[in-house]
Amino acid sequence: MNYVIGMDIGTSGLKSLKVNMEGDVVDQYSVSYHTDHPHSGYSEMDPEVWYQATIESLTYFFKQNDVQDIVGISFSGQMHGLVTIDEQGDVIRPAILWNDTRTADEVRSLLDTVGLETFLRETQNTVLEGFTLPKLMWVRRHEPDHYNRIHKIMLPKDYIAFRLTGNVLSEPSDASGTSLFNVKEGAWSTPLLQQLDIRADILPDIIPSHGKNGVLTDDIKQQLGISHDVAIYQGGADNACGALGSGITDDKTQMVSIGTSGVALSIQNDPQFENDGSVHYFNHCVPNQNYMMGVTLSAGYSLGWLKKLLRPDEDFEQFLEGLEETKAGANGLLFTPYLLGERTPYNDTTIRSSFMGLDATTTDNDLKRAVIEGITFSIHESVNIIRQSGTPITQIVSIGGGAKNADWRQIQADIFNAQIITLTQEQGPAYGAAILAAMGAGWFEDFQDIREQWISYRDTVQPNTEQHQIYQKLFPIYQSVYQQTQAISQQLLSFK
Ligand code: XUL
Repeated sequence: MNYVIGMDIGTSGLKSLKVNMEGDVVDQYSVSYHTDHPHSGYSEMDPEVWYQATIESLTYFFKQNDVQDIVGISFSGQMHGLVTIDEQGDVIRPAILWNDTRTADEVRSLLDTVGLETFLRETQNTVLEGFTLPKLMWVRRHEPDHYNRIHKIMLPKDYIAFRLTGNVLSEPSDASGTSLFNVKEGAWSTPLLQQLDIRADILPDIIPSHGKNGVLTDDIKQQLGISHDVAIYQGGADNACGALGSGITDDKTQMVSIGTSGVALSIQNDPQFENDGSVHYFNHCVPNQNYMMGVTLSAGYSLGWLKKLLRPDEDFEQFLEGLEETKAGANGLLFTPYLLGERTPYNDTTIRSSFMGLDATTTDNDLKRAVIEGITFSIHESVNIIRQSGTPITQIVSIGGGAKNADWRQIQADIFNAQIITLTQEQGPAYGAAILAAMGAGWFEDFQDIREQWISYRDTVQPNTEQHQIYQKLFPIYQSVYQQTQAISQQLLSFK
């Protein structure tokens, strides 16, 4: 039996899965690490930490007896992070991560000078503080010595592939989140590079996500105590890999992921589709497939915040007990999950959360239900935009924490008005990375074959018409809270 390894290089840790030719996860290994926040709004990490975590994980897998049967490795990576290397291949400065918000001035200046219209034409996306280009502009303005030393820039998982093989390459799904990549053309945007005076040769060449980057270097083979070649396949962005690992290979099924942040994702291949910037429009890690994605910044994060205040010692399952006693609408209580600002559809870092409708009868169960409904309403904003683009959404694969609780699954079905299904074996983006390695190794003819053989679903939840009607009335009220509280939020921020 042969095996592949899928590695998810996340923000707080690296999770790896060893998967056999039947798609079973036979072993796994996790390493935790921490991001650095040297100043408020900064989020950085030394790429060496990812590399050491990678080597620790590979050492674990390659210590076993059947090492020669591990034939390929691929990656899922946190998106948007800026890794810079010099001509010697040395890292120039710590990587600036997706959740770093130091680049507000750069984004403003890019939108003022280049303009939203050009970004939508050249990249099919608006520019956000989290994306890679504003980080590069920040380095150019604040650290010109670093900028002048740049030989190549890379995304986090591409840096790991580079360290393992020596080859600097990238692929469409992660390149899509740089603000320098034309999603419709699947290539770096030459007009943007010229307009911004950025050297094209600092960008990696693009290969397919399941394309072969190279093989483990002799040094690493020696370190791991192996003599056979192990292929490294480029890998994909974490959201793309999460979708692939959930079986999203065409537009028949959509995905909603509720973890710390929330994501609604749907394949959108219509050549006429024009993104207005309210959602992301990225290349999938499956060739010739693109997807729309909306992001709720504080999804599970909002529930974790409430749990910390009300019942810090309980786990989430205990905390959600009692939810079934509450009714749709949470006894007239509405929550907007803007604890960290909001991405879709507002792209507004200054908006903040509110509870509307608190009264003397409000219970802690109402608070919990309102938070869960507010998170789900926020994701529904994205589901709505996807529907408005012409994709009928009737079935959604729900993954992450939001899929684990039966009441929350029902609330999702009722708010989205769609059938909710869950995965028999939910393994997260590392599983999508393993699929890329399996495809790269030629185990399957195409992505549909592997999806049919490796991925199955259970727990079908149907929407309840009565509940859905209540949510249909509540949703516009939820939406109106943003407009009505935006100015108040901004005024309050000055008191922080
Ligand atoms: C996507 C995004 C996050 C990161 C987290 O646009 O910013 O999902 O990929 O890993």
